[in-house]
This record gives sequence, C-alpha cells and structure tokens, in this order.
Amino acid sequence: MRLLAIVPILCCLAALILSFLCLFAGSKGNLMEDYHLLTLNTSRIGQNLLDNGGKLPFDLPGSELLTGLPDEFTDTVSDAIGDIAERLGVEDFYSAHILDYCYGQYTPIEVANATVSASDISKNITGCSNRTAAFAFDPNEIIEQALNKSGLGITLRDLEWPQDIQRGIDALRIISIVTFALYCIAIGLIGLSLILAIFGLFANGRMLPCCNLLLAILAFLASGLASGLVTAVLVKGTEVINQYGGQIGIEADRGNKFLALTWAATAVMFVAVVIWCIDMCIPRRNKHANNMDKHG
Ligand SMILES: *[C@@H]1O[C@H](CO)[C@@H](O)[C@H](O)[C@H]1NC(C)=O
Ligand SMILES: *[C@@H]1O[C@H](CO)[C@@H](O)[C@H](O)[C@H]1NC(C)=O
Ligand SMILES: *[C@@H]1O[C@H](CO)[C@@H](O)[C@H](O)[C@H]1NC(C)=O
Ligand SMILES: *[C@@H]1O[C@H](CO)[C@@H](O)[C@H](O)[C@H]1NC(C)=O
Ligand SMILES: *[C@@H]1O[C@H](CO)[C@@H](O)[C@H](O)[C@H]1NC(C)=O
Repeated sequence: MRLLAIVPILCCLAALILSFLCLFAGSKGNLMEDYHLLTLNTSRIGQNLLDNGGKLPFDLPGSELLTGLPDEFTDTVSDAIGDIAERLGVEDFYSAHILDYCYGQYTPIEVANATVSASDISKNITGCSNRTAAFAFDPNEIIEQALNKSGLGITLRDLEWPQDIQRGIDALRIISIVTFALYCIAIGLIGLSLILAIFGLFANGRMLPCCNLLLAILAFLASGLASGLVTAVLVKGTEVINQYGGQIGIEADRGNKFLALTWAATAVMFVAVVIWCIDMCIPRRNKHANNMDKHG
C-alpha cells in the first residue's frame, strides 16, 4: 500500500466534482445561478433613446408621457426605462451557462437607489432555455426574438443596436460549442485518472505510476485548456459587449465565480501531477526488500 497515492486520489476526486459543477451549474433554475459564465443586464435597454432628447423613434403606448420631463423627475424617468424593457418584452437579465441560459427580473429593483444597495439586488429567475449540449448563447437572437414576440413591431435597429457588439457575441458563440466538448474530455480523463490512482494505491511496479503520471498530465492539460479558453473568451466578450453595449443600456457581467471554480479544478489536477512526479522519483523497493524490512 502506497500512502502517497492517497493525495492524487483526493485531488482527482475534487477535480471531478468541480468539473461536474462547472458543466451543470445553473442548469436547474436557481441552483448555482451565481456560477454563470456571463450575465447580460438588459434592464436599461432603450435608455439611450430617452437620453437622446427624450423622444422615442417609435410608437410605444404611453411613451409620450416621458418626453421632456425636467431633471427633478429622473426617478420617474428611471422607472420608465425599466418599463421600456418590460413593454418591449425584454427581461432584466439573461445569464449564460454551459448547457443553457436563464432569464428573469432583478428584485426588488433593477438599479440601486438610496435605500436599496447593489448587494441587496438579487436575481429572480423566470425561466431557462432547454438544456442542450452544443448550445450557443446569442444575445442578438434572444433579444430579437423577445422583440418579435412583443408584437410592437420594434426591431434591433430601432434600438440602435451597435454592429460592433457582434464581435463580442461571436466570441461567445465559440465557447458554447468547444467548451462543452473540452469539459467532457476533461471529466473523462480525470475520471480515468481517479480509477487508475486507486489501483496505484496497491501497485508496486514502475508501470502503473508511469501511466498514472501520463493520464494525470493529460487530464490537467484538458482541464487547463478548457479553463484558459473560457477565461479568454469571457474576458474578451465582456469587454467588447460593455464597450459597445453601454450606448444602448446593455451591461455584461463576467462570471468570476465560474472562473474560480474551473481554475480550482485545474489547480488540483496540477497538484496530482506534482505528487505523481514525486512518487516517480522516490526509489521503489521490491517485494523482497519489503519482506526483509518487515522481518527485521
Ligand atoms: C444593470 O445595468 C445598469 C446600467 O445599464 C446598472 O445601472 C445597474 O446597476 C445594473 N443592475 C445590476 C443589478 O447589475
Ligand atoms: C428605492 O427603491 C425602492 C423600491 O422600488 C423604493 O421603495 C424606494 O422608495 C426607493 N428609494 C429612493 C430613495 O428612491
Ligand atoms: C419572483 O417572481 C415571481 C413571479 O415571476 C414572484 O411571484 C416572486 O414573488 C418573485 N420572487 C421574489 C423573491 O421577488
Ligand atoms: C423545449 O423542450 C420541450 C419538450 O421537451 C419542447 O416542447 C419545447 O418546444 C422546447 N423549447 C424550445 C425553445 O426548444
Ligand atoms: C424577427 O422578425 C424578423 C422579421 O419579422 C425576422 O426576419 C427575424 O428572423 C425574426 N427573428 C427571430 C429571432 O425570430
């Protein structure tokens, strides 16, 4: 029995659980919603239209009441902007996960005010898309669909949807398809590492530790690749969406908790690799020597 093998077993087990959480976070309503990849805050959509002289370029029932209000009424205007999103049929937020996306309303209000601080605002999920393996989070299509459904005849062009935002959105499309595959491969390799590590507990030869190390390295690389890709895409996507989305009242919030989760999985696999390396370097005694030790 080689006690050193217990550490990689625990590492593999931890990495397996963390990777599963990454894959399934947010796919059951409110469960682990905080571990989103990215949340699109669309609660202020249409704000630009009110700011630009306060006149909407399209007919929205009741919108004439909002035009030309003096500054004292900014709270009213602020409420009205929330109403715009609501009347357009657009939800307050859309949060992307690996397997689906969810949407809903911010409670109690969308934007912090004097009495309700930002930390008191929570998400109230209305629903989620169907779970699919190779799903692409496309805010463009989601919002267009919501606008179509509202039946007001308002298009993205009416909202002055910036063309440049598409680059950020295109970046997001890559992850959905590639990351799902990468996480599945990583989970498979980590699982194999775990099984082999359990055998390694009882092995005495040189062969098994070698296989253990090799498999752990592959699992670490797969996990690292998945984490690296997700990080790069989320950083880029969030940056571009925030750069151009601000004009039309759209904000993207990067899922830092998800990134912590996925990098934690990669880190524990790295520990497993290091332990297997150390294990390889420790001179191994053969059975005969072992028996000699035991007998005196
Ligand atoms: C949503 O975005 C608006 C600006 O577009 C911001 O003022 C507000 O604080 C955001 N709400 C939340 C809950 O992040
Ligand atoms: C902040 O928003 C809450 C909820 O809508 C409201 O009850 C409260 O009066 C607001 N506070 C201020 C100072 O506007
Ligand atoms: C969440 O929304 C539902 C209706 O969509 C509402 O009944 C419920 O009270 C809301 N929850 C909170 C905490 O606001
Ligand atoms: C989701 O799945 C249900 C049944 O599984 C189906 O009826 C529905 O059309 C699907 N929705 C979408 C948006 O694909
Ligand atoms: C919305 O409607 C327009 C025109 O009616 C159509 O071209 C577009 O494909 C629709 N978009 C979605 C996402 O259904």
